[in-house]
Amino acid sequence: MAKIIASVNCSHVPAIGAAWDNGKAQQPYWAPIFNGFDFSKKWIADLKPDVVILVYNDHASAFSLEIIPTFALGCAPEFKPADEGWGPRPVPVVKGHPELACHIAQSVILDEFDLTIVNKMDVDHGLTVPLTLMFGQPQEWPCKVIPLAVNVVQFPPPTGNRCFNLGKAIKKAVEAYPEDLRVVVFGTGGMSHQLQGTRAGLINREWDMRFLDSLVKNPGELAKMPFIEYVREAGSEGIELVMWLISRGALNEKVREVYRFYHVPCSNTALGHLILENER
Ligand SMILES: [Fe+2]
Repeated sequence: MAKIIASVNCSHVPAIGAAWDNGKAQQPYWAPIFNGFDFSKKWIADLKPDVVILVYNDHASAFSLEIIPTFALGCAPEFKPADEGWGPRPVPVVKGHPELACHIAQSVILDEFDLTIVNKMDVDHGLTVPLTLMFGQPQEWPCKVIPLAVNVVQFPPPTGNRCFNLGKAIKKAVEAYPEDLRVVVFGTGGMSHQLQGTRAGLINREWDMRFLDSLVKNPGELAKMPFIEYVREAGSEGIELVMWLISRGALNEKVREVYRFYHVPCSNTALGHLILENER
C-alpha cells in the first residue's frame, strides 16, 4: 500500500528561482538561504520518495480571475514550467502521477471535498522553487509530482481547518492506494510577508516561530486560527501558511521534527522551512 512518510514545508519566493537560474546562489545575499537547504537536499536524496504531492498556490499563471478554484488537483501526466513574464524557468518538466492523482480525486471528492480536477496546467514558481530548493538542478526531477493548487490569492481562501481536514482526507486516500509508493507532501508559501501597502515588508518572527511550534505539536488548535489573524500578524501574503496545514493534516498526529530553518530577509519575506516525519 502507498504511505505518506514525511512532509516538507518551505517558502516559495520567486526571487529564489531567479537567483538560482542566474547563477547567484553563492552570492553573499543568497548563500545563507541555499545553504539552509543543504541538510534537506541530503535528507530527501536518502529518502528517495516515489511521489511528492506539492501543495502551492498559483500566482495568476495557470488561472486568472476568470476561474478561481479553491483546490485544484493536477491529474495530468506532465506539467510545464509557466512563463511568468521572463520566459519559463529552465527547469525540467514536472512528471505527474495520473493514476494516484485520479485515485486521490475520487476519494476526497466522495469524502465531500470539492476538488477541481485539472488535466492541463502550467506550474509557476510556487511549485518549481520548492523543487529547486530540495533537489537542486537535475536533468529530470527525481520523483513524480502531483500539484495541488490552493486559492490564497483571491478572498475568500479556504480556512485552516478545511485545509487540515483536506490533508487528512488525502492521507486516507493515499493509504488506500494499492501500489507500494512512498509519498512526501510539500506545503509551501509564507512565512510572514506583505507585498503591498503601508505594511509592505512586514516580518513577525515571534509569530512565525509560534506557528512552527504549533504546527509540529498542536495542529488541531492551529487549524482553528481565523483568516484575519494570519493577515493581521503575518501580513496579507502570510495567509499562504494555511497550505502548511494540508501537509500537516496528511501526517500522523504525532510527528518527529527533523529539521527547521528560518531566515530573514529573503526578498521581502521571512523564509521558513520545516521537515517532519511520521513516527516510525
Ligand atoms: Fe506565493
